[in-house]
Amino acid sequence: MKLSFVGGGNMARALVAGLLKKGWQPGDIRVVEIDAGARERLQRELGVAAHASLAEGVAAADCVVLAVKPQQMREVARSLAPLAGEALVVTIAAGIRHADLTRWLGGHSRVVRAMPNTPALALAGITGLYAPQAATQADRDHAAQILGAAGTTLWVEREEQMDAVTAVSGSGPAYVFYFIEALEKAAAELGFDQDAARTLALETFRGAVKLAGESAEPAAILRERVTSKGGTTERALAELEKSAVGASIVRAVHAAAERSRELGAALGSDEPQARAL
Ligand SMILES: NC(=O)c1ccc[n+]([C@@H]2O[C@H](COP(=O)([O-])OP(=O)(O)OC[C@H]3O[C@@H](n4cnc5c(N)ncnc54)[C@H](OP(=O)(O)O)[C@@H]3O)[C@@H](O)[C@H]2O)c1
Repeated sequence: MKLSFVGGGNMARALVAGLLKKGWQPGDIRVVEIDAGARERLQRELGVAAHASLAEGVAAADCVVLAVKPQQMREVARSLAPLAGEALVVTIAAGIRHADLTRWLGGHSRVVRAMPNTPALALAGITGLYAPQAATQADRDHAAQILGAAGTTLWVEREEQMDAVTAVSGSGPAYVFYFIEALEKAAAELGFDQDAARTLALETFRGAVKLAGESAEPAAILRERVTSKGGTTERALAELEKSAVGASIVRAVHAAAERSRELGAALGSDEPQARAL
């Protein structure tokens, strides 16, 4: 399969690196990137061809992955419309809806939507995928194979669920980093230097995630097992409950989903005034 990326930024680089690690040949991957420095880096570090011209970069591609910023997508899709041929188009842009992209691509409906997250940069991402019912199994498999190179994939049945994916796993690393920051701050206040505080916080996260992943028990049970009556964890959890931290996290994720819906509507509108984000 001949694969072309349009946009050679962070996400495209992560996906290309993952694909090469999975045994894809550099000669089967091209990247279209407008920035000369970024093109030079793609060629030098990943060994893939990087083109300034969209027409050259996507010619005869079986699949085109759109990896530009959401705000750049309309213009890129309109330029791609006469060049896409029969290629499968995969978009990783946050918020850009299937119908809008199909319209900008001049009615090209062989489109799969994907929502990765930044741990893809460490090949540990989780990507939500959506395709309409009419999509072929082969197209679904190809999209999952490409995004799966940088981590795990999960299909959603309804496109609205992509707003939930954005809110949970797309923005999710920031929630985790927020918690790690707080844990590091507390460790520092309790007398550890920065390195030790970081090690304590990160290894706690890594270990708890590993344990939760390997255990058949839900997180609530694992939490109860750490919480002995009258102990230190019980005191800490009571403090978290007093500040309603759990409920705040739930509200935060709902707020992110709402913002994703707003951005999707604004980005997809062809009315310039509706595009004010
Ligand atoms: N990073 C994340 O956490 C994340 C998570 C999920 C989804 N995504 C989605 O992934 C997409 C890419 O994100 P990113 O972080 O990789 O962004 P990025 O680093 O800004 O990469 C986009 C690249 O495309 C280039 N570009 C812009 N217009 C172009 C054109 N017409 N033709 C070719 N290249 C063009 C940009 O150049 P200039 O910088 O010169 O404009 C930039 O190098 C976004 O749509 C984002 O919503 C990102």
